Amino acid sequence: MRATHLLLISVCVCLTPSLLLAQEANHLRGMNLYENHCTKCHESRVHIRDDRKAKSLQEIRAYIQRWINVEQLDWTESEIDDVLQYLNTEYYKYSK
Ligand code: HEC
Repeated sequence: MRATHLLLISVCVCLTPSLLLAQEANHLRGMNLYENHCTKCHESRVHIRDDRKAKSLQEIRAYIQRWINVEQLDWTESEIDDVLQYLNTEYYKYSK
């Protein structure tokens, strides 16, 4: 095995856990934001009802945007992304 291969493998092995940890951290942040700010009107059941309204990642994002405006929450793009990923991973499971 060539040295570059060994180097690549060790880079991958070292980076994977930290990427997973970062993903996990974002998921938790999305969950906390959602639970703290979004569950006073609806339970998460709204995202799995038969006639759910958000039909794509784009539409989920539009809903998040709509409600943070109503609630006057000052979320950053990355916070919006975390909530989007959280809702999608937990409920919608859209690929686009
Ligand atoms: C003031 C009450 C209220 C708050 C606060 C609220 N929502 Fe909602 N949300 C609603 C209502 C009512 C609906 C259903 C609207 C409809 O049927 O068109 C809804 C629907 C949604 C949907 C679409 C569900 C579907 O059918 O697919 C999403 C996504 C959503 N809300 C996300 C959020 C997020 C994220 C937050 C927090 C930032 C939030 N909501 C906060 C009242 C609220």
